[in-house]
Amino acid sequence: MNHTVKPASLAPAEAPAGHTPYSDWLQTELLHSLQHPVSAHPGEHAWIVSAQVSELYWMLIIREIQAAQAQLRADDLAGACRTLRRVVAHHEPLNATWRSIAWMTPVDLLAILSCVGPKYGKDTALQGWTFRQMVYLLGIKQGEHLQHFLPQPHRWQQLSKALAEPSLYDDVLAHLSRQGFAVPAPALDRDFSMPYTPDQAVEKVWRDVYADPDQHRELQQLGETLADIAEGFCAWKHLHLMATRRTFGARPAYFGTEGIAWLLPTMNEIPFPELWSARGFIGDAPAVCPHARGQQGGREMGRRD
Ligand code: HEM
Repeated sequence: MNHTVKPASLAPAEAPAGHTPYSDWLQTELLHSLQHPVSAHPGEHAWIVSAQVSELYWMLIIREIQAAQAQLRADDLAGACRTLRRVVAHHEPLNATWRSIAWMTPVDLLAILSCVGPKYGKDTALQGWTFRQMVYLLGIKQGEHLQHFLPQPHRWQQLSKALAEPSLYDDVLAHLSRQGFAVPAPALDRDFSMPYTPDQAVEKVWRDVYADPDQHRELQQLGETLADIAEGFCAWKHLHLMATRRTFGARPAYFGTEGIAWLLPTMNEIPFPELWSARGFIGDAPAVCPHARGQQGGREMGRRD
């Protein structure tokens, strides 16, 4: 696609009354009317802005992933990689938002949260649809989270659709299959709303993609970009967990159980599973490598064949 700006499209237009072209384009009047603190705490504005910026980035990542999926479906691998590099880039400022609220102690957080409930009711970030849609697109499909959106039928519908549709990883596997790799049928033709089950044969596909540094270079670049995306996502989750430890400790959270106990198991939800597990046997170990000894029987999944 040609993105060159044509001079004719630069013809001057009038901004609406009360706006400059800048405020009209970027909707700054609307944007700065969206923060409504409920407490008297001077840091609540930072909390709201930080959460709102995260919301914007999650939506941005959703749009990018959907664009990459369309490119993969058209077997435009170079285009998909370029789009996914932007997802890697967006994770940097998204993860940096935690710095804005790193000053919080439990006293600060509770001063704010104690005013949220009386005004808005019992809230949890699990009620945020952008994060959940992004997670579904990354291939972590857990239908139980839909329950939070029953009061928001249009978002419930949107997320139900996202749950039932192929994730980014599903589209990557379909692309690999069309390129002649032996992706097994159950990994391709399945109920996409169900959690993905890792498969030894898919591990072997990734091993083959990486086996020779000079072969399948573009696919290796895709694999490394996916690894960067998974790292960015997991880094966010780690920062969130640490912020929770720092401000909330072992208090019971939304479900009545300790917030940290609820969050900890989710740290093992790492996108693109075989891309990671295959690394245990990508490349040939030196014949005398002491670490290679005795490994054959110890692997959970694939083995060399
Ligand atoms: C620093 C104070 C924070 C604490 C103590 C905290 C605590 C928690 C807890 C306990 C959960 C588990 C579900 C629940 O019980 O509600 C959770 C989930 C979540 N929180 Fe926070 N949170 C904090 C800040 C934030 C911020 C600033 C965001 C960004 C908007 C955020 C986004 C999320 C998301 C997306 C989940 C779902 C995680 C998942 O499903 O893996 N949290 N949080």
